[in-house]
Amino acid sequence: MPLGSRHLLTLQELTRDEVLKVIDTAIDMKRNPGHYANALKGKVLAMIFQKPSTRTRVSFEVAMRQLGGYALYLRWDDLQLGRGEALKDTARVLARYVDVVMARVLRQDDLDEYARWSPIPVINGLSDKWHPCQILGDLLTVKEVKGGLEGLKLAYVGDGNNVCNTLLVGCSKVGMNVSVACPEGYEPLPEAVEWARRNAEETGSKIEVLRSPEEAVRDADIIYTDVFVSMGFEAERAKRLKAFLPRYQVNSRLMGMAKKDAVFMHCLPARRGEEVTDDVLDGPQSIVLDQAENRLHSQKALLYLMLG
Ligand code: CP
Ligand code: NVA
Repeated sequence: MPLGSRHLLTLQELTRDEVLKVIDTAIDMKRNPGHYANALKGKVLAMIFQKPSTRTRVSFEVAMRQLGGYALYLRWDDLQLGRGEALKDTARVLARYVDVVMARVLRQDDLDEYARWSPIPVINGLSDKWHPCQILGDLLTVKEVKGGLEGLKLAYVGDGNNVCNTLLVGCSKVGMNVSVACPEGYEPLPEAVEWARRNAEETGSKIEVLRSPEEAVRDADIIYTDVFVSMGFEAERAKRLKAFLPRYQVNSRLMGMAKKDAVFMHCLPARRGEEVTDDVLDGPQSIVLDQAENRLHSQKALLYLMLG
């Protein structure tokens, strides 16, 4: 079931079976890397970055290399985009050189516009609204650690941001339950909740958006958080810290209210001492480094299914 020339902009565009296929392919690639060493021979990925990145940049570049292809790192401001060249012109020109584009942008609208004109697949490497590649890696990690996905409960505590939006969509697709706890004014996108509820009708997931972190983490198998100040929101820092702290911090007290064998997840980078304490991030329940590693394997699978 190749994903063909479709774009990956939100995660909602993949069916449940396609999400599971990415995960299972990633598991096989992780076990048998040699088998895929030339799977994307001669293929080129262009990576456009309008914001900083460690994991996304390095994992995509290494993914292409391990599959026999090549990746180009392009900073938005170094491209003519930075001087105002139209997205539609850039999209059509890059497609004459490369096979697939991954873009990290400030505004989802710009990504949607780029994708509208791109004759080759476009992958969202994080926008203000969605982070599909992160959640594919996260679902792989959960499957490895918990042995399955369906019926597990993920509690997301903190900012209803890009990562939270995409968790709602991705987890509901594979039959996981999601409880979000966030302060007023920091809820996930209505669109994300609506899509999650629609997915849940088919998979039987339970979706809730609450105020209380304690209520959200009750019986949770996974506690997930992310920064309170995402890239692009730095001007709101003081206001945000006031809204989130101390109530929405994931610390040992909150971890202790979930299931005994609950794991802690974070997409990273973390702001230690803000959304999560050191002891939780570095503690035995934390699986954040496996999450980071799995960005590589899940993206290899994604690229392989798109281009292979
Ligand atoms: N999790 C994630 O996307 O990390 P980077 O910002 O380092 O790419
Ligand atoms: N929510 C964070 C995720 C970084 C990977 C941000 O957008 O900055």
